Amino acid sequence: MERTLILVKPDAMQRGLAFEVLGRLERRGLRLAGLRLLQVDEAMAKRHYAEHEGKPFFAGLVDYITSAPIIAAVFEGTGAVEAARQTMGATKPTAAAPGTIRGDLGLEIGRNLVHGSDSPQNAEREIAIFFEGHPVIDWRRDTDRWVFE
Ligand code: RTP
Ligand code: MG
Repeated sequence: MERTLILVKPDAMQRGLAFEVLGRLERRGLRLAGLRLLQVDEAMAKRHYAEHEGKPFFAGLVDYITSAPIIAAVFEGTGAVEAARQTMGATKPTAAAPGTIRGDLGLEIGRNLVHGSDSPQNAEREIAIFFEGHPVIDWRRDTDRWVFE
């Protein structure tokens, strides 16, 4: 089953939207397999966002993601990476479709509430960063056959 790494970013934590964000992904049908509340430090932020190092928004991005505790979650399901990104909406909230997390709850690209892996390969890389030494649980829901064909 495909997995994706979701982060509830500091703005969603500060605004009391953590479970709104997670709940939308859960209601989509994705199965929760890992969950952590943690404070990201600079080293972890730089590792996670390595692809953006050198870009003009990089310093602000590291400040943002380290500014408050976050929730890291592993969700799994059919096409989990794409499904989660669809439910999240476009990176820039003013370009995100209504009905998506960012389209309904956000306004600014640097305050876009949620992260989701952009490929299954990156999901594995990111899960290793955020769940090193922490359990990701392989389980089945009684309802899985009503969600997964
Ligand atoms: P994410 O990684 O957070 O799920 O978002 P994404 O794939 O939709 O966007 P990505 O291109 O990976 O950018 C990562 C995060 O960096 C911030 N960003 N700011 N000011 C800017 O031009 C800019 N561009 C990106 C956003 O917080 C974005 O989610
Ligand atoms: Mg990204």
